[in-house]
Amino acid sequence: MNYNHFVIARIVHILAVVLWIGGVGFVTTVLIPSLRKTQKPEDRLKLFETLEGRFSFQAKITTLLAGGSGVYMLNVMDAWSRYTMLQYWWLHLMTFVWLIFTLVLFVFEPLFLHKWFHQQAEKNSEKAFFVLQVMHIIMFALSLLAIIGAMAGSHGYQF
Ligand code: HEM
Repeated sequence: MNYNHFVIARIVHILAVVLWIGGVGFVTTVLIPSLRKTQKPEDRLKLFETLEGRFSFQAKITTLLAGGSGVYMLNVMDAWSRYTMLQYWWLHLMTFVWLIFTLVLFVFEPLFLHKWFHQQAEKNSEKAFFVLQVMHIIMFALSLLAIIGAMAGSHGYQF
């Protein structure tokens, strides 16, 4: 094994996570609250779909890169057995966060979520955007927890 490849995988992993979770942070703490405060309901949905639509493309790429590099690192370290150990909860959490975003971006959104949210927002914009904000806060918080756990765990912190 060329150790440089492993380090490059780690660089790809972190770059992908920075761009992806950073974007989720922006949508959660800046975009959605501003849309809820400033926009009329009919403009709100249109603007949200345009802006989040662009981010969703980037998120798809960064999710693929984070997942691919993560699996590569697990393979190189031959560390699959960590999934059976509770002290590696951060690996479980990283994988869980990844799975939820992957399902939302690649399966739920195209199948029904986009259409469903559009209908909900047309019916009751305040409620739809409130629920949207809560969902984003939950996913953003879990992502931050996964990052804290992964940083600590992979640099020797004993959980
Ligand atoms: C299928 C999904 C994923 C897999 C298989 C995976 C796997 C890994 C592996 C094997 C490591 C190296 C651990 C070590 O050196 O002991 C790692 C590090 C890390 N991962 Fe993931 N990961 C995934 C998703 C994520 C996600 C979604 C996030 C962010 C929310 C994330 C954030 C991190 C961070 C911050 C590190 C620490 C890197 C360091 O400090 O050097 N990962 N991941």
